Parts: sequence; structure tokens; C-alpha cells
Amino acid sequence: MKKITVKTSEPYNVLIEQGILNQCGKFISEVVNTKYAALITDDIVDSLYSETVIKSLNEYGFTVKKYVFENGEKSKCTQNLNNIYNFLADNNITRTDCVIALGGGVVGDITGYAAATFLRGLPYIQIPTTLLAQIDSSVGGKTAINLPCGKNLVGAFKQPKLVLCDPCTLKTLSDKIVSDGMAEAIKYGMIRSRELFDIIASHNLSNYFEQIDDIIYRCVSIKSNIVENDEFDKGERMLLNFGHTLGHAVESYYNYSTYTHGSAVAIGMNIITSQAVKHDMCDELISDVLKKVLTAYNLPLTSDADIKDLIALCSNDKKCESKSINVIICSDIGISYINKISFEEFSAFINA
Ligand SMILES: NC(=O)c1ccc[n+]([C@@H]2O[C@H](COP(=O)([O-])OP(=O)(O)OC[C@H]3O[C@@H](n4cnc5c(N)ncnc54)[C@H](O)[C@@H]3O)[C@@H](O)[C@H]2O)c1
Ligand SMILES: [Zn+2]
Repeated sequence: MKKITVKTSEPYNVLIEQGILNQCGKFISEVVNTKYAALITDDIVDSLYSETVIKSLNEYGFTVKKYVFENGEKSKCTQNLNNIYNFLADNNITRTDCVIALGGGVVGDITGYAAATFLRGLPYIQIPTTLLAQIDSSVGGKTAINLPCGKNLVGAFKQPKLVLCDPCTLKTLSDKIVSDGMAEAIKYGMIRSRELFDIIASHNLSNYFEQIDDIIYRCVSIKSNIVENDEFDKGERMLLNFGHTLGHAVESYYNYSTYTHGSAVAIGMNIITSQAVKHDMCDELISDVLKKVLTAYNLPLTSDADIKDLIALCSNDKKCESKSINVIICSDIGISYINKISFEEFSAFINA
């Protein structure tokens, strides 16, 4: 088993092992002081994995109350949050009980936010079941829901008590969802680790699973390290936004319907790196190798959106401080820095 301790204000472990779902009751019982758990999941994950999770929890003496909602981003909303609060209240969940998020980033984000706010906060555990959730959203304590006017606009920092990653759950994902998560894995390689990048680059969408435990371990180690240095997103954590400002613009340009998050981030990483080459900030070889690996995982390199429209949308990005914009540049594979420039400079950088 691989273990990473995330040393944030409240430290916790991320455990990675194929088949760990069957033993989740054991590991959860070690970090909570209750035998009463609220399990929150979506309908697809419920049909695949709830039974295994509940069986193990029961074996360790837990009484489990389950709440299932419809899968998809649209469930990360105030109405569903309200339903979760009512479910927790109806089942007399108290501040010493625990909440378990079983699913992808949508389940993790809304359950985490409910756990951060219900009764002013109660312990929660993440059991991420998508690649994106295992390497990114389940670690770091950012929880949120969307508002009709924008994504992740209501949220809180709330670290989980434990994260249990079972790579076997990824076997039931569609290729499209694996690609989506792989864009974030490629991002980690680009910003921090040539070794990770090379492992990903020496595989593709059909054989990535051979190295999956190692890929997850390396991604989580990078995220954990960055989050430890900057838990509340004031500095270094911005490196994790490599490709994201443009990526968010792409998602929004197409009304969140054409490109998934990972695909949009792939486009963002490619555009930023191609432009960095034009400005002599990185070698052309880097941009070429990035294009090659994105293509190997079926990720897009460009969209047909007008670049001027994308630049305009970048100014709306919530990560963009009033008149300046933090552009993450990779000067080499594994080496990145934050380049804070004015919006005019950003526009010129992209337009060159
Ligand atoms: N909190 C953070 O730091 C953070 C970071 C990145 C992304 N996010 C958020 O994460 C969300 C995206 O997460 P996601 O990509 O996991 O999407 P998701 O949770 O919507 O999952 C994608 C789909 O896969 C299904 N699914 C999940 N696990 C499965 C499995 N093992 N087998 C088969 N199907 C499965 C789900 O039912 C869903 O239909 C977004 O809302 C994003 O804002 C949060
Ligand atoms: Zn992302």
C-alpha cells in the first residue's frame, strides 16, 4: 500500500491500494470516533460500489445511512446541497458522526461542502472513484458547489480525515473520463516532475493502468506538497492552475457542453506552452513533447473558438486578481513558475 500524509492544519493520510474499497471500514474506523456514517454518492457510483463499501463498514460495526443523487455536474447545486442537509438532519447525524463521499469530484466537492457547514463542520472521508478525483479533487480541502452564475462560487476549505484511493474503481470509467483525469496528471508532470511526465508519456490510453498506482502516488505527492506550503491558495498553489485560466475560458465559451474540464485544460496547457515558445520562455521541444503526450491520451490541442473571445473570458476568471493575471509558465518539463502580468500583457502574450 502507498501512503502519503498531507501535513495541513489538520494532517491526514491518503492511502492508495488496489482493492482497498473492500477494507474501507477498517481504515475509516481508525480515524473516526463513531459507528454511525452518512454515505453520499451518485447513482452510477452507487450501482457499482456502494454495496462493497457498506459491507466493509458493516463488518467494522458501522450503521450506514445512504444518500444517492443523480450523477453529473448539475447536481453540484444549492438544491442538492439542501437535500443533503435534510438527509443528514433526518438521520440525526451529529457533529461526532462522519460523512463519506464516494464518487468523482462532484460527489467529493458537494459532500465536502456539506460536511464543512452542517452543524458548523463534521468529519468527512473521501473515497474518490474517478482519476481526476483520486489525483486532484479529493486532496487539498477545497470544497464547493456551483451557482447559476458560475462554478465553485460557494465553498470552504475543509480537509478530509482520510482519503482512500482504490485504482481498481477506474476500470469502470469510460475512456473519455480517464482522458479527462489524465490531463491533470500531465499537468502535475509539467509543473513539477519530469519523471512523472516520462511515465505518463511512455504509456497511452490503452495501457496506462499498468502504472496507475505510481501515477496516482506521484500526483498526490505533488499536490500534497504544494497544498502544505499554501493551504489557503495565496501563492504556490496557483501553480496547479497551469492551463486552467484559458481552460476555464474554453469551458465557458462552449457553455460547459462541448469540452470537459480536462480537455479544456489540455487546450489551455498547449496554447500557453506554444506561446511561451514564441516568447523564448521555453524550448520548442517542450511544446512538441506536450502535444505528443496530450494526443496519446486523446486530448485536444485547440478549439475553434476565436482566441480574442477566450482572452475576454479570461478576465472573468475568479482566479484573476482585478487587473493582473497569474500565468503559469513551464520553462522545462517539471519546472514551472508564476508570471504575474497585466491583462494587456496577457492579451499580447496570447496574441503573438
Ligand atoms: N476540490 C477540488 O480541488 C477540485 C479539483 C478539480 C476538480 N474539482 C471538481 O470536480 C468535478 C469533476 O470531477 P469528476 O471529473 O470526477 O466528475 P464527476 O464526479 O461528475 O464524475 C464523472 C462521471 O463519472 C461517473 N463515475 C464516477 N466514478 C466512476 C467509476 N468508478 N466508474 C464509472 N463511472 C464513474 C460519475 O457518476 C459521473 O457520471 C468538478 O465539479 C470540478 O469542479 C474539484
Ligand atoms: Zn483542473
